[in-house]
Amino acid sequence: MPNRSVNLARPEIFNLKPYIPGKPIEEVKRELGLTDVIKMASNENPLGASPLAEKAVREAINLLHIYPDSNCYYLRQKLAEKYGVAENMILLGNGSDEILRLIAETFLRPGDEVVLARPTFVEYEFTALVMGAQCVAVPLKEDRHDLPAMLEAINGATRIVYLCNPNNPTGTYVNKSELDRWVASLPDDVILVIDEAYGEYATKEDYPDGLSYVREGRNVIVLKTFSKIYGLAALRIGYGLCRAELAALVQRVSEPFNVNLLAQVAATAALDDNEHVQRSRDNNAEGMQYLTRALDELGLPWIPSQANFLLIDTGRDCRSVFEKLLSKGVIVRTGDVYGYPRHIRVTVGRPQDNARLVRELIGILKEPV
Ligand SMILES: Cc1ncc(COP(=O)(O)O)c(C=O)c1O
Repeated sequence: MPNRSVNLARPEIFNLKPYIPGKPIEEVKRELGLTDVIKMASNENPLGASPLAEKAVREAINLLHIYPDSNCYYLRQKLAEKYGVAENMILLGNGSDEILRLIAETFLRPGDEVVLARPTFVEYEFTALVMGAQCVAVPLKEDRHDLPAMLEAINGATRIVYLCNPNNPTGTYVNKSELDRWVASLPDDVILVIDEAYGEYATKEDYPDGLSYVREGRNVIVLKTFSKIYGLAALRIGYGLCRAELAALVQRVSEPFNVNLLAQVAATAALDDNEHVQRSRDNNAEGMQYLTRALDELGLPWIPSQANFLLIDTGRDCRSVFEKLLSKGVIVRTGDVYGYPRHIRVTVGRPQDNARLVRELIGILKEPV
């Protein structure tokens, strides 16, 4: 009988690779007999959530029996004020992951094409494949988006182009003058999704503000998240900014209660916590400086990053480095899944986490390859 149930599924889903989740930290500790394990693998905020957000969650804990506000009224108001946009230009979702899915559901038919970089954030391809679209993946050039080649890949079948800025997993960015020129040359009938999940960490003066293209009236959707600098990954909340007409289309496929109550109150409070954001940004900049100097001393190349993670060339098989770090209680991401078989992707941690990673890398480098 198993064959019959397989035949029931849409053919598109057989193009999807099932997500392989990592083990919970508690399980890693138990298996390895370790008490102190640090996760530098998922680009979370090592300083934790905004204290104002935690307080807001505690205060809302007696409201768990009530459905959340389906329009995210207060959060929407606050975001509109922060960016100086109309409230109907804001999309809210169960993480920006969900908004990516809503965008795909709104705009993609089987056979349509999307253009994206390779490697980049995996959800673009995943959500497009779910809808039966074809993914045209343009390899990075010197670890950066190859904008001319991406432009060339666009044809009459292209509906969405994805730009992850800074890019996950490389941390590289497209600067303002490059992006201005590129956006101006895109055809009017494609939607450009600019994913700025790590935008708050960027320190370069010429890091572009994707919202400026929305303000020009272009078919651009800028995605942002509360999972990274605001430290609210567990609550699942992200948002998008785009023209009201586009937002109204995407809104049609959204579930009425897609953003839970705790996420709404936490995000609303976190937007007021400038101190937490600044501390997180400073911790990242200092950690990045410490790590890159230490890696230079070790002779390990790294890719300049504007995000909260670093792709490091270990000069050896990344899986063995991963296993060795794991056995010492340091969890990182292997680069092989992104086409970088010698690299590990490391989230910048607290000073003590970064120092521990460097210590363990020194030990690993002393071992024969
Ligand atoms: C580039 C990028 N976009 C979006 C997301 C998803 O963020 P969220 O937690 O808001 O779904 C991630 C998460 O790692 C990411 O790296």
